[in-house]
Amino acid sequence: MASTVRQLIRPVARQSRPQTSRSCYRCLQTKVHDQGIPPYAFAFDIDGVLLRSSTPLPGARNALRYLQRQRVPFILLTNGGGRSETERVQDLSEKLDVELDVSMFVQSHTPFAEMEEYKGGDKTVMVVGGDYDKCQRVASEHYGFGNVVTPADIVARYPDIWPFSKVFMDYYKAFAKPLPSPINPAASATLKIDGIFVYNDPRDWGLDSQIILDLLLSEQGKLGTLSKKNGDKSLPNNGYLQDGQPSLYHSNPDLWWASSYPLSRLGQGGFRAAFEGLWSTVTGGAKLEQTVMGKPHQPTYEFAEKKLRRHRKALFGHVGLNDPLRRVYMVGDNPESDIRGANNYQSPHGSEWKSILVKTGVYQEGTTPSVQPTVIVGDVGEAVRWAVEDALEL
Ligand code: G3P
Ligand code: MG
Repeated sequence: MASTVRQLIRPVARQSRPQTSRSCYRCLQTKVHDQGIPPYAFAFDIDGVLLRSSTPLPGARNALRYLQRQRVPFILLTNGGGRSETERVQDLSEKLDVELDVSMFVQSHTPFAEMEEYKGGDKTVMVVGGDYDKCQRVASEHYGFGNVVTPADIVARYPDIWPFSKVFMDYYKAFAKPLPSPINPAASATLKIDGIFVYNDPRDWGLDSQIILDLLLSEQGKLGTLSKKNGDKSLPNNGYLQDGQPSLYHSNPDLWWASSYPLSRLGQGGFRAAFEGLWSTVTGGAKLEQTVMGKPHQPTYEFAEKKLRRHRKALFGHVGLNDPLRRVYMVGDNPESDIRGANNYQSPHGSEWKSILVKTGVYQEGTTPSVQPTVIVGDVGEAVRWAVEDALEL
């Protein structure tokens, strides 16, 4: 399926300018071509816009194929994850029947790949979330992290660390790996975690919360230890997180997401909210230092825009000063992530981002969205047609 970016472009014959009807792409064609390298592009959310769980949503295939025919660049920007970018792009290409490429794809944990400070052989990170060891393999095999352990590896070796996982042990033992070091606080070579990365929705909130809590209450991230500074009111934050504990990163803040179930389901943000409650209870309200990435956060949009600009350049082979990317249309179903992110995004390149909210996912028709988009439309097809018309003014 892998295609050279240039194959994604197929020029079409010019057409005369008829009136635009709601479902007609052909009527829109001429408008795009007039500008050569279009001064605009798209960023598409996935869940609730292109897919519902793994079922393509109406109009998704035609909308993307239309933009490819018209040489309008776009990327897919999702808070989802849990597999490698290559695997997800292959799967999406098959499901949507559209040729896609990793150069046009950003998922929640893609920016983790750039965190060089955790990749050295002397560093060990704990990766949380997703099915089996898929996220662990993304971190080690695709992002180049040297030592990657999971809560599964830990509980498989030390079942007493979370007694209630005994019922899931067959599942864990199916993919758990030996730990780089034993948990032996007395020894110098005890298991020490330098960074905690929540890559995708945790499956076993109990186990994952217990081990993350153990690490954040430990001495320097050494499992099986408890920092003597915890609760010391003479210290900042009552002594919590004052003893070289590992940093905590979340890839996706979504409290809700649109799956195949008719009502939105709790997402990775639900796990974070539950853990924050736990931490507050255990520490008497101490501050929890953590980095939350993903939409709506600025770093994720900056990362996405960088990827979009690189993809646009690759699509046309050249993008000169006269071909500025002036506008990006963010098409999403979640006001709190897609719309808030696009509305608040300050582009270091000066591009304007407009937000288009569709009714095929989290946002429920007839309700007032928590964040006001540029426009609300029925589905992704309508979003593309609205935007192509809107871009005429550029
Ligand atoms: O777990 C994925 C979900 O939070 C939302 O994904 O594609 O709508 O950003 P997406
Ligand atoms: Mg979505």
